[in-house]
Amino acid sequence: MEPVIVWYLRMSVIYFMAGVMTGVGMLLWPGVSGYYVPVHVHLNLLGFMSMMIYGVGYHILPKFSGRLIYSPVIMKIQFWLANAGLAGMAVSWPFAGRGEYPLSETVLLVSSLLTLISVVLFAFNMLKTVKSV
Ligand code: HEM
Ligand code: HEM
Repeated sequence: MEPVIVWYLRMSVIYFMAGVMTGVGMLLWPGVSGYYVPVHVHLNLLGFMSMMIYGVGYHILPKFSGRLIYSPVIMKIQFWLANAGLAGMAVSWPFAGRGEYPLSETVLLVSSLLTLISVVLFAFNMLKTVKSV
């Protein structure tokens, strides 16, 4: 398995742990849980689920078409953008939610855009890879 694919899978399960820990934290501290719902949701859905799908998808989907991945370079760039984007979102969201820290809102917006770019890169790479045989 390509090293970057192994890293997609590793990061996925790390985000899974972070996501469920946030969930348990929200149950333990209900007073502030509202600020952490989007962190919890996106660690689980963008971190665990999407990162797992990126890793498994990059490994297996080209094989279904009997092809190699269209761009291994895009696959690597996407890894860094997806992780920088999600980490930025997770760290800035609780601060941005309070509305008192303008810098956190900028970080949230920039990291969301990085995430968006990473999704577009994944879509492009997959669309150029999977073909009917
Ligand atoms: C130990 C495991 C988990 C705990 C303790 C937990 C806890 C919570 C809590 C307290 C909320 C907020 C509920 C509310 O106040 O409305 C929540 C929301 C949510 N959780 Fe989890 N969660 C866990 C695992 C997961 C996992 C694995 C996923 C997804 C793969 C997930 C997805 C969501 C989603 C999407 C919401 C938002 C639901 C909505 O829009 O109202 N959670 N969770
Ligand atoms: C660039 C990527 C994304 C951005 C910028 C984004 C942004 C947002 C925002 C602003 C909210 C509202 C949060 C709030 O109530 O304060 C939200 C909620 C939510 N998002 Fe995302 N999202 C992204 C990707 C995704 C993906 C890929 C999924 C699922 C696979 C997802 C699932 C959800 C869910 C379930 C909620 C409702 C959570 C709740 O009840 O508060 N998001 N998202």
